[in-house]
Amino acid sequence: MSELRKIALQILSKGKGILAADESTATMTKRLNSVNIKSNETNRLIFREILFSSSSVKECIGGVILYDETLRQKTSSGKTIPDLINSSGSLAGIKVDTGAKVLAGSKEEKVTEGLDGLRERLKDYYNLGARFTKWRGVFSISDKYPSNLSISVNAHALARYAALVQEAGMVPIIEPEVLMDGGHSAEVCLKKTSEVIKRCYEELELNKVDLKGTILKPNMILPGSKSDNKISNEETAELTLRCLKDSVPSEVPGIAFLSGGQTEIEATANLNQINIKNDTNFIITYSYGRALQQSALEFWSKDISNKVGTQKIFDHRAKMCTLAAQGKWSKNLENPK
Ligand code: 13P
Repeated sequence: MSELRKIALQILSKGKGILAADESTATMTKRLNSVNIKSNETNRLIFREILFSSSSVKECIGGVILYDETLRQKTSSGKTIPDLINSSGSLAGIKVDTGAKVLAGSKEEKVTEGLDGLRERLKDYYNLGARFTKWRGVFSISDKYPSNLSISVNAHALARYAALVQEAGMVPIIEPEVLMDGGHSAEVCLKKTSEVIKRCYEELELNKVDLKGTILKPNMILPGSKSDNKISNEETAELTLRCLKDSVPSEVPGIAFLSGGQTEIEATANLNQINIKNDTNFIITYSYGRALQQSALEFWSKDISNKVGTQKIFDHRAKMCTLAAQGKWSKNLENPK
């Protein structure tokens, strides 16, 4: 088995998932300000170090995606952050895109940038301890979007990124996120998400990416956040599996979903149903940002010195997600009597 496939399986196996703690400084500032905490380097490190040193990392978290700032920080005891993550048997990853910018030619859409100088940055990240990476392309849904242009340029960038990452000895997470914003139905989400994912794999194959050493990070198939037609967890699972079967090549070892604005419970319940119904060979798990961190962040913001209390909340969420990654979660586990 190739080294890259081994890394991918180490991250995804046994119900483990990924903690996406790679918010850019701008996004992290929004998250911290929403709970009235000042966003500075120290506070960002305090919160993240609390999460990374939680006991659940060992049993639940196969990989942690970091932002450049965090990869270079040291813990209060002087360890590097990748060393802290490795000490729990987990792997450090790094977000390597430089963000989604206005797409010239279709100004309401975005193109993700960061290919210039990427080969050199990847060497640095590997030497700092990263073993996997992430690049996120974003697509919005409306009558005319995502446009053919946006699908084409973002799929091309994702593929060129993935080829460079494998050349540097790391596993690329391919994240084409079709956003939940809008009033569209789940069927429209299914059609557009499948189209986007298929185009990504056409480009990945053209760029000779070894799919066995990659991880796909897609959105689940859901109605738009402004749609009145809510659907059940079972329907979400059926549509999401239909999308994967229709658009993801069988060599891909695993799928790690983003939460994309779902609540913690919704993201857990949907992942659980997807695994109950999973009739594919893909490992299906989570790569959640908000759906792993939100309650812990709210609790921590009330007393930033309360490490134990914050970890208890994070540990609970990580355990629930890991049960859902095995189809073993149920709602009554959320509030044990
Ligand atoms: P959410 O789970 O909060 O959507 O974040 C995942 C992520 O990494 C988005 O790029």
